[in-house]
Amino acid sequence: MEELEVKKVIALMSGTSCDSIDAGLCEVYPDKSVKLIHGINYKYPEHIRAKIFQLFRGEATIKDICQMNFAIGKCFANAANILIEEFGKPDFISSHGQTIYHYPFDEKIDNISLKSTLQIGESSVIAHDTGCMVISNFREADIAAGGQGAPLVCFADEKWFKHKGKNFAIQNIGGISNVTVVSREYDTFGFDTGAGNVFIDYCTQKFFSKPYDKDGEIAASGTISETWLDCLLQDEYYYLDPPKTTGREYFSTNYIENMLKLAPDKPADIIATVTALTAKTIAQSYERFVYPNVNIYEAVICGGGAYNKTLMKFLRTYLPSHIELKTCEDYGISNNFKEVMAFALLAYCTYYGIPNNLPCCTGANKRIVMGKVSY
Ligand SMILES: Nc1ncnc2c1ncn2[C@@H]1O[C@H](COP(=O)(O)OP(=O)(O)O)[C@@H](O)[C@H]1O
Ligand SMILES: [Mg+2]
Repeated sequence: MEELEVKKVIALMSGTSCDSIDAGLCEVYPDKSVKLIHGINYKYPEHIRAKIFQLFRGEATIKDICQMNFAIGKCFANAANILIEEFGKPDFISSHGQTIYHYPFDEKIDNISLKSTLQIGESSVIAHDTGCMVISNFREADIAAGGQGAPLVCFADEKWFKHKGKNFAIQNIGGISNVTVVSREYDTFGFDTGAGNVFIDYCTQKFFSKPYDKDGEIAASGTISETWLDCLLQDEYYYLDPPKTTGREYFSTNYIENMLKLAPDKPADIIATVTALTAKTIAQSYERFVYPNVNIYEAVICGGGAYNKTLMKFLRTYLPSHIELKTCEDYGISNNFKEVMAFALLAYCTYYGIPNNLPCCTGANKRIVMGKVSY
């Protein structure tokens, strides 16, 4: 096998929140550790972002999807070029793309599986506009091998936390929330716990005309409606056994509008309650699917939700008191750029032909090398 070397990688990621294209110049080392040299949060131009939300709502034609694939590719290239101007070209770029649809179900038609996922942001455009090799489209290979194509970050969590010798729940709170359980005794496993910020962002936009509840201030000013919370917690997703992943197709605008039919009157109480819902679904999913197998000593929160102080406070209340609550920043990893660093590592493995999926997290039938290359 080719000898592994340190590689400079620009990784590009935009999650379900669609808040920004996170672009990070990283160094990836042969021991699979990753150092972030510089990261930027590059905002989508306003009308492009509005178009992406149109795709999320299913209000798009095939023409829109075709056009947006190239337009988002341009945006990703622009984000990479900001880093390239300052730091020079990396060895290659890793691009996650923008997920616009995720269908992890075993439904069949003519006995042919419909399980699928779609990340757009044409990598040929990124390669052309940056002059760099681009590794992209990671999730498809895992689905081809019978997996859900998600969660993929578990691979990095295992590399970064397993050797620390403790039992961790690494909890990402992006648009959707996902956990990776890294322990001494058991194989790493992970799943999506439910919504992360999608409900909070939607309701904050609807009732307060702001894109998100900065630092959880609005939630802090409201009161949790326990009856509405109990009702929201009945959703069947929370009871499904892992492996399981979800997205905006399920926790959609329609879903939230239906939720709101039973909501309390005061907007601040709504924000408080949906914030509590994110925290409670995390805590309950540990009770149902984690503690029966693994004793957790520490929960490490990452993603934008780690900045929501009220959400963190609710988590502290709902998690057992012996579990220490930390954020990635306690481990020198930026909450904002952890996924970027994970995708830098995934692309590094693609480059060297090292399997980079974790079947116990995605449900795939074997370990495979995910990712495609554009020159
Ligand atoms: N200071 C903050 N206070 C509260 N919430 C925040 C803050 N910063 C980010 N967020 C939340 O995090 C979200 C972005 O998280 P991110 O991890 O980027 O998710 P995704 O991977 O889905 O893009 C924002 O939409 C917002 O809801
Ligand atoms: Mg984001």
